[in-house]
Parts: sequence; C-alpha cells; structure tokens
Amino acid sequence: MAINRIMVIGAGQMGGGIAQVAAEAGLQVVLNDIDKGVIDQRLAFIGGLLDKKVAKERISADEKQAILARLIPSTDLKDAADVDFIVEAATEKMALKEKIFRSLDEVARPGVILASNTSSLPITELAAVTGRPELVIGMHFMNPVPVMKLVEVIRGIATSDATYAAVKELSEKMGKVPVEVNDYPGFIANRLLMPMINEAIYCIYEGVADAESIDTVMKLGMAHPMGPLALADFIGLDTCLAIMEVLYEGFADSKYRPCPLLRKMVKAGWLGKKSGKGFFDYSG
Ligand code: CAA
Repeated sequence: MAINRIMVIGAGQMGGGIAQVAAEAGLQVVLNDIDKGVIDQRLAFIGGLLDKKVAKERISADEKQAILARLIPSTDLKDAADVDFIVEAATEKMALKEKIFRSLDEVARPGVILASNTSSLPITELAAVTGRPELVIGMHFMNPVPVMKLVEVIRGIATSDATYAAVKELSEKMGKVPVEVNDYPGFIANRLLMPMINEAIYCIYEGVADAESIDTVMKLGMAHPMGPLALADFIGLDTCLAIMEVLYEGFADSKYRPCPLLRKMVKAGWLGKKSGKGFFDYSG
C-alpha cells in the first residue's frame, strides 16, 4: 500500500516531532490528540521551528506554509479510517496504548500498519490485542525528533517482513536511519542508555562525585553531547524510572535495579527539566 497520508497519535514532544518530519518529507499528517489545546500549542511550536529554518534560508516561506498545511488536526480516532499508516506516540502506559490499538484495529482499513513510538513497552503484547499482529511494529524515534537521525524499528514476534520493509522505507523517506531490533525489554537504545544513566545516579548516591563532575567526565572524556544526568533531566526522571522498571521486571535481573535516589527524586516531583528541578536546576 502506498503511504501518502499518515496519522500520528499524541501531539506531545515526540508525536509533534514525528508529525513535523513527516510533513517536511511531503506526507499528509493527521495529528491526533484528545486535547485540541495540546495540538494547537504543538502546531505553534512547529511553526516557530520552521520560522528559524526560513530565517536560516533552509526552506522558503512558501515551503513553510506548505508544510503547515499538510498538518491536519484531529481529536477523533475515527479519522484513522482514511489514512495509509498510523504511528502512536501517546503516554507510555500499556493500558492506554492497548485501548488505542484496539480502537485503531477496528477503524483502520485492512492492511494499514499500526506502529508505536513506545520507548520500551512490548510490541508483541500490543500486537496481541489486535486482529492484525503481522502489521504491528515499533517505530522508536529519539528526542528531539527533528535532530536525531535514528529510528529503532522493533519487530514483534509476529511482525511480517513486508511490514518491516514498509517501515524501513518510510523512515528513510523521513530522513532517518532505521535500525532493525527484535522485541526484548528496552530494545537497544534504552537497554544501553538507561543503565548508564542509572549508574551515573548510583555514583551520586554513593558519593563518588557530584552531578556536574559526572557529566563533565562523559562530555569531555567520551564526547557525549550531554552528560548522562543532564540527559536524564531532558528525558524526564519519571520516564527514566519507568524504563528501568521495564528492564528490571522484563529480565528479572537485579543488575537493572533502579537507584533508590532516582525513585526518591521522582516521588519528590523532581522530574528534571519539565518540573524545573532534577539533577540540575531549571527554575531560572
Ligand atoms: N526540536 C527541534 N530542533 C531542536 C530542538 C528541538 N527540541 N532542540 C535543539 N534543536 C536543534 C536546534 O535548532 C539546532 O539546529 P541547527 O544546528 O540546525 O540550527 C540544533 O538542534 C542544535 O541545537 P542547539 O545549538 O540549541 O543545542 P546543542 O548543540 O546543545 O544541541 C541537542 C542540543 C541536539 C539536544 C544535543 O545536546 C544532543 O544531541 N543531545 C543528546 C540528545 C539525546 O541523546 N537524545 C536521545 C534521548 S533518549 C530518547 O529519546 C529515547 C528514549 O526512549 C528515552
């Protein structure tokens, strides 16, 4: 099936980024969220990013308008009936995603692929709530989506070769580099990234060094663009904890135990950049 019109579910940071790169690639994008206000805010944010591109002469003002015109707001999942491909980027809660996938399975045309941008929830389990498990796949973009080149393409146990090939092609059309990964907890990105972040938190917890020093070691010693603790703040400490829990439970292995300091900070509401406080201060 030719993919010209897609639906992105969730107009948060990830869904908004996916919608933007898809519209920039020439696709019609139905941007769906339960909250119209969130969609409006996201479209304004995308408009601001496109303005910067116009100012830097990377795109013309006409191209900017054409990209924005390809972004179609929607608050009704039934709008999935006339799209060729769907990628879900809703909140990382399994029960919510299962509900969305059940609805999409009813509404979407036969043959339409249902992808999830989940960062760590099992694709195989999501596929199992639908009547089309061979068409369900993970399409995990990185934040910020317009900047990061990677898409982890996650195959559930039943995902077909044709579904994988279609998502690979679509990722490339969106200017990304897809990497094929099988469905195990954390896939690759978060199986490697989150234990590193968790270990950095253990270094603070055990008094090895302070946050600034730990991040400096990784930035200057390993050429990481951000240190692990600034990155944890950027991702959100609640998200980091949730992913560590997925690894810990999924592998039933104590090497993935979340650091008690991470739990404590999340309980305190210190969630990183979005709450104004994490390992660093963002209140100013
Ligand atoms: N949306 C779109 N573009 C953005 C952006 C955003 N939110 N934030 C920054 N950019 C763009 C800027 O416009 C700028 O573009 P140009 O160079 O074309 O002008 C470019 O990115 C660089 O931005 P800055 O100069 O402001 O800042 P920087 O050089 O410090 O880069 C960064 C910022 C790209 C975030 C960089 O620090 C970085 O790469 N950090 C690591 C990010 C990372 O590891 N992401 C993965 C997170 S894990 C994940 O997403 C998976 C998961 O499941 C948890």
